[in-house]
Amino acid sequence: HQAHPFFAQALLDWYPRHRRDLPWRHTQDPYAIWLSEIILQQTRVQQGLPYYERFLAAYPTVHDLAAAPEQEVLRLWQGLGYYSRARNMRTTAQQVVNEYGGQFPSRYAELVKLRGIGPYTAAAIASFAFGERVAVLDGNVYRVLARVFGLTTDIAQPSARKEFQHLADQLISVEEPGDYNQAIMEFGAIQCTPVNPDCLFCPVREQCFAFQHGMVQQLPVKSKA
Ligand code: ADE
Repeated sequence: HQAHPFFAQALLDWYPRHRRDLPWRHTQDPYAIWLSEIILQQTRVQQGLPYYERFLAAYPTVHDLAAAPEQEVLRLWQGLGYYSRARNMRTTAQQVVNEYGGQFPSRYAELVKLRGIGPYTAAAIASFAFGERVAVLDGNVYRVLARVFGLTTDIAQPSARKEFQHLADQLISVEEPGDYNQAIMEFGAIQCTPVNPDCLFCPVREQCFAFQHGMVQQLPVKSKA
């Protein structure tokens, strides 16, 4: 069953009307989705876009990346910082070629074993590329869930993760888990923003705990540890 079905439905209605048109939203290729998510981990969309395009042009497939000299890969990454991302990607590409015959694993449980692929990235690839029903958790998701469902747990505490994951896994759309995941992140990025969220035009304001209780500014709770 799905808890609070209004929520997934509202996000899936909102998403096609508001989403930004971004190149990784036109592909189901797990390799391209992986690249986009690694770039966007520490880089803003506008800064990351040209890197995504150049990288895919230079290495269109996981085979091309696996065979590339490390120095060349690092040169393509220049300006993005956090160079371990690029080094790990090349190593993981080699692992995908050598251990998986060049086919990305399609399941969250397999993806999360790969170097540089943590729970967030594994959930993103599994749901966007393969339609697995596994909820992504990032800062946007924490904020949206804390506000709408009134979770007052301090998200800086490691124990918060379990609580949010449990709720998120109940909310995710059965029919369209990938779009649902993209929708909730996009909703957090452009509507339910950290500062000055657009509550006036919010599709879930009637059900939103924070809005109804005047607590939008107080949620999520995040201690400065
Ligand atoms: N940030 C992280 N993943 C993203 C995605 N797929 N689209 C836009 N912003 C993102």
